[in-house]
Amino acid sequence: MDKKKIVMFGSYVADLTGRAPHLPKAAETVFGDEFKMGPGGKGSNQAVAAFRAGADITVVTKIGKDVFGELFLDFYNNEGMATDHVLQDEEKGTGIALICVDEGTGQNQILVVPGACTNFTDADLEEMRSLLREADILLMQFEVNLDALEKVMRMAKEENVTVVLNPAPARDIGKDILAMCDIITPNEVEAEALSGVAVTGEKSARQACGVFHAMGIPHVIITMGKLGVFVSTPDGDRMVPARIVDAVDTTGAGDAFNGGFVAGIAEGMDMFGATEFGNVVASLSVQKFGTAPSMPHRAEIDKVFCRERE
Ligand code: RIB
Repeated sequence: MDKKKIVMFGSYVADLTGRAPHLPKAAETVFGDEFKMGPGGKGSNQAVAAFRAGADITVVTKIGKDVFGELFLDFYNNEGMATDHVLQDEEKGTGIALICVDEGTGQNQILVVPGACTNFTDADLEEMRSLLREADILLMQFEVNLDALEKVMRMAKEENVTVVLNPAPARDIGKDILAMCDIITPNEVEAEALSGVAVTGEKSARQACGVFHAMGIPHVIITMGKLGVFVSTPDGDRMVPARIVDAVDTTGAGDAFNGGFVAGIAEGMDMFGATEFGNVVASLSVQKFGTAPSMPHRAEIDKVFCRERE
């Protein structure tokens, strides 16, 4: 199969995760049962999901010279993922995320301190152009400094690369920047922050998509958890149902979806097919603990995805 080449420009952070009977409220201290440190960051999680799904993906991220950066390098080396385009900051440390997981519901709370990932300099971006010249798809999120994100997006447009933006976590950003996206994949909260439409179901999702289309974005994919994913393209729109499974940890479910989705696009699936593929990846990842380590491999994905297509 002739797969398109993907470049992921985004974050890596170390996830410091505790599991507890319930999530702490403001000013509350809760006893946890278990602690784990593992590889995370929305960018890296999405890249790992795409890689395990079989995509040809190059990772551009930035780490610090510290133990969290070493964790990243060990994980990528074990995965067989290349680190040639991973930058190291001289001063800022590797980003971290403090994550609490409710062991009853699998829901989470995240405080992310992106560290080195918010310090991409112009010098760091110099080799992006040659990478993009060889690429077909650029995948990005919002856990980097936005001036760098904008420059990389402009380069991608100049090199005719398809720009896929997962606008997470929600941030204030100019419409002129959003207009450079070919595909945008917000969740319902991010869709509201960027479009001004409160997304609660199919009708409001369609309205929010109208706002994104008016900005100039042709393909809008709004993920809405158990409600499903609303897909809106120039050829039509519809809700793709969610896959209901017993979740033990929903942290990184959106990343699993995005990684799977972009891997599907790179294989030539249309927006609806890639969304179904992304849904399978996400449903498998939430049945395991952790973020990047919970991403399923292609054989596991195919057991579900191919069986349902037969
Ligand atoms: O989307 C989940 C990710 O967000 C976590 O891995 C954490 O690192 C934060 O960046």
